[in-house]
Amino acid sequence: MSDDSRATGLPIYQDAARYDAEHWWKVDDLAFWETMARKFGPRTLELASGTGRLAEPVLKTNATYTGVEISASLLKRARGKLATYRQRVRLVQGDIRNLHLNETFDLIFIGFNSFLHLLTDEDALAALDCVREHCHPDTRFMIDIFVPDPIFLYRPPDQRVPTKIYPDPETGAAVKVEETNSYDPETELNHLTWYYSTDEARDFLILDFTLRMYFPDTMDRLLHDAGFSVINKWGDYQCRSFNENSELQIYVTQVAVN
Ligand SMILES: C[S@@+](CC[C@H](N)C(=O)[O-])C[C@H]1O[C@@H](n2cnc3c(N)ncnc32)[C@H](O)[C@@H]1O
Repeated sequence: MSDDSRATGLPIYQDAARYDAEHWWKVDDLAFWETMARKFGPRTLELASGTGRLAEPVLKTNATYTGVEISASLLKRARGKLATYRQRVRLVQGDIRNLHLNETFDLIFIGFNSFLHLLTDEDALAALDCVREHCHPDTRFMIDIFVPDPIFLYRPPDQRVPTKIYPDPETGAAVKVEETNSYDPETELNHLTWYYSTDEARDFLILDFTLRMYFPDTMDRLLHDAGFSVINKWGDYQCRSFNENSELQIYVTQVAVN
């Protein structure tokens, strides 16, 4: 991340209306987080909370919800969306690598691949240290990320892969998004570019971003080093055990007892 994006968030997260429009398809985790909030809440903290997409299922329960998000634009949209719940909602602009709310929560979670924005072990451990600071002995801390897929990592660098199509939030025009990527196995960093086009305007927007590819063994090591015990490792939102065919890695953890 550049110094600027450390303070305000990544370019892909500067337009909240576009974020919601382009993620219309991401609904498969909503019931899952509602269930987790019922089971492990009621005091919940979401790290990298975006426009409040996952706040809504959590708030369907009687939970209280704190969301921490670095992008001012996404946070503002979340404030608007969640206004009806305001007694039970707190939204904080902040960096999850440097978070000190001075309270503990029953469920802390980071969903929808947000953990992949922590690009180095140092970033991940800084964030995990902050999580531990907000845990009591029975807090559940959960992470949901995808399993890196070699077919995705080793695509030819110039190959544009169609990834999504969504209605432009202002004009309704169909926007098609293509993706290229370039993966560095040394750093485990995957550099991605999204190309946005309509029938009238090819590549009217081009956005670059980088994701760290976290393999399951790296997650086990980092969680252990940061003082967490893994209670469950699931491979999908139906809570089935993780196995070699799983597309997701979902960790349910707790602060380790020494
Ligand atoms: C894939 S989006 C997920 C947003 C939301 N949780 C959802 O499920 O729709 C990733 C989010 O992580 C946020 N983010 C990335 N790095 C962050 C950091 N260091 N601190 C706080 N938020 C961060 C981005 O601004 C973005 O909102």
